[in-house]
Amino acid sequence: MFKKRKHNWSVPHGQELTELDKKVLSFQNKGFLVPRRELIKTPEQIEGIRRSGVVNTGVLDLVEQEIHAGMSTADIDKLVYDYTTQHGAIPAPLNYEGFPKSVCTSINEVVCHGIPNENEILREGDIINVDVSTILDGYYSDASRMFIIGKTTPEKEKLVRVTKECLAIGAEAAKPYGFIGDIGKAIEKHAKRNGFSVVRDLCGHGVGLEFHEEPEVNHYNTHEKGMLLVPGMVFTIEPMINMGTWQVFIDEADGWTVVTEDELPSAQWEHTFVMTEHGLEVLTA
Ligand code: MF3
Ligand code: CO
Repeated sequence: MFKKRKHNWSVPHGQELTELDKKVLSFQNKGFLVPRRELIKTPEQIEGIRRSGVVNTGVLDLVEQEIHAGMSTADIDKLVYDYTTQHGAIPAPLNYEGFPKSVCTSINEVVCHGIPNENEILREGDIINVDVSTILDGYYSDASRMFIIGKTTPEKEKLVRVTKECLAIGAEAAKPYGFIGDIGKAIEKHAKRNGFSVVRDLCGHGVGLEFHEEPEVNHYNTHEKGMLLVPGMVFTIEPMINMGTWQVFIDEADGWTVVTEDELPSAQWEHTFVMTEHGLEVLTA
């Protein structure tokens, strides 16, 4: 069997080719994987996602101010719900594929998708990821930060710091007319150098008109180029970095909570980015 070449970029019949069309088609004709043309956002759409990102950042700033030992993850959920709705927006996680709360709160060995709970109390030394996603006027944004509750161990502090560096290094590696594979390659290199591992079962994603769009953004080295990065693409980078093994499992009790196999800590940072002619620009800063 011959492999079929993927022709993702198709220009409507009779429409004149733009400079961008010509450039992407030349990659496609050489056999590179390119995005579907519909993944390229218009300037208006990018502005909409940026406005959504402003609310999303406001939520995270509020959580940063308020988070403290003794509060429950349900208290964080309430802060997120109230702030978001007061700003005319909707928390994207709420009822998303049955997710019951407005935000994901993932403590220590929880990798991601932790469900806020009034019986889950933050304690001194915990590290927690708060993952906030917002819909404003139909536009989605998505970002997460780590918070250290009081003072923690040097190892956990290093994990939080290195994970933040992984996000920055991955974003720096993403160049216009480079490839998605460049991102995970750079991230894995930095994680490994620091003695950590990269979660493989969850990835970043296109975002903007829906919560999760194409493409998938792997955070590890797939040894493949992956999709061409074209100005106008909007996607997240959200590396999950583990202190021990990269392997994870889903808690069967709730069907959501992702936990490290060895129950060692995990950290994650996330931003939504738009690719420009000069590189990535953050829409959730
Ligand atoms: N915010 C997560 C992400 O970064 C997705 C969470 S889905 C939810 O893609 F349903 F758990 F909220
Ligand atoms: Co995301």
